Amino acid sequence: MVTIAVRKNRAGRLIELEKEYGAHNYHPLPVVLERGEGVHVWDVEGKQYFDFLSAYSAVNQGHCHPKIVGALIEQAKKLTLTSRAFYNDSLGEYEEFITSFFGFDKVLPMNTGAEGVETAIKLCRKWAYLVKKVPENKAKIIACEGNFHGRTTTIVSMSSDPDARKDFGPYTPGIELIRYNNLEALRKALEDPNVAGFLVEPIQGEAGVVVPDAGYLKAAANLCKEKNVLFIADEVQTGIGRTGALLACDHEEVKPDILILGKALSGGVYPISAVLANDEIMLCIKPGEHGSTFGGNPIAARVAIAALEVIRDEKLAENAAELGLLFQNELKKIVSNRIEVIRGKGLFVAIVIKPMNGITAWDVCMHLKDNGLLAKPTHDHIIRFAPPLVITKEQVLEAADIIKRTIEGLG
Ligand SMILES: Cc1ncc(COP(=O)(O)O)c(C=O)c1O
Repeated sequence: MVTIAVRKNRAGRLIELEKEYGAHNYHPLPVVLERGEGVHVWDVEGKQYFDFLSAYSAVNQGHCHPKIVGALIEQAKKLTLTSRAFYNDSLGEYEEFITSFFGFDKVLPMNTGAEGVETAIKLCRKWAYLVKKVPENKAKIIACEGNFHGRTTTIVSMSSDPDARKDFGPYTPGIELIRYNNLEALRKALEDPNVAGFLVEPIQGEAGVVVPDAGYLKAAANLCKEKNVLFIADEVQTGIGRTGALLACDHEEVKPDILILGKALSGGVYPISAVLANDEIMLCIKPGEHGSTFGGNPIAARVAIAALEVIRDEKLAENAAELGLLFQNELKKIVSNRIEVIRGKGLFVAIVIKPMNGITAWDVCMHLKDNGLLAKPTHDHIIRFAPPLVITKEQVLEAADIIKRTIEGLG
């Protein structure tokens, strides 16, 4: 008894510390985690949970995957950082590996997803001036309403979410927002000859796992090709197995001109992002024009190779495809008038909750937590479910049962 009380105190104290000394830019669920393995995490009181957020799809390979952690430790003992002022013995091998893995000529390594998006925007603009011959400072990027591409000032300039955007102006010019999943809007926007690129999430993640109509991505990519506009896929959240294919674009056999990856590129053990493109685009950037002290460091290189090998060798995209169907079918058996919609692809799923009797998606997540499953609301009424892709059939059934009991228990 004493031990439980001490541990509870510890959780409370740790939450207070974050509140007292950290910026209040997040609103976490009140659970303090100290350990993770595979699909599970444990809090400081020793309670086990299913992790159905996977650090926003960074932990696709499962928590603390031994092969990925092993690569990190081994490289950390040898050489951690050289900067790009010198060559190192890991980067070239990684670059060869990742470009052949995804089928592009070149990669530009960065650290976070937002940096990847910024890199893609810069690369696209450079290409527009050097190759497409757009007049100086006139290049335009089209993005979609409801997007989430990160938190930098240029990226929030593209956001239609007031929380992300308000009071962070003045905003970066050269951006036009159009409706997502609307080909007519894209066609119209592409009439401007100064459009350089179309930046799009193949499935909008933070918007609440919004899956566009079948054929949208293919048609959008074709429209871009007709107008000599770069199709830029932000697969930071959808990529690397999450939706039941290596890339969400693969479902429609779309090859982006620029591909942005992050999150699961490290299996969650290190911040690693990457921008991939072919030579005609990538070689527009010359020495000194872009970079990052940590981008392409030896640890990141070794970790990313291991993380991608795990996806391939453990057939995690295939697992996501198969168990995603099972998971969605199980969720559809829930008998509750609180559920408006269940949607998703692979193991990237969301439930839209009807606000009723004052119970919000946050409240549902609190009940799920009490019942041993962690998920986080996105906006007020949507819960995203994105477990690590190493999940088994039995675990999917167990987790779906927790969700069913929780939602049906709300009455
Ligand atoms: C589609 C997409 N792009 C970019 C980002 C930004 O990634 P990061 O938080 O690593 O900067 C995110 C993060 O959630 C994302 O979902």
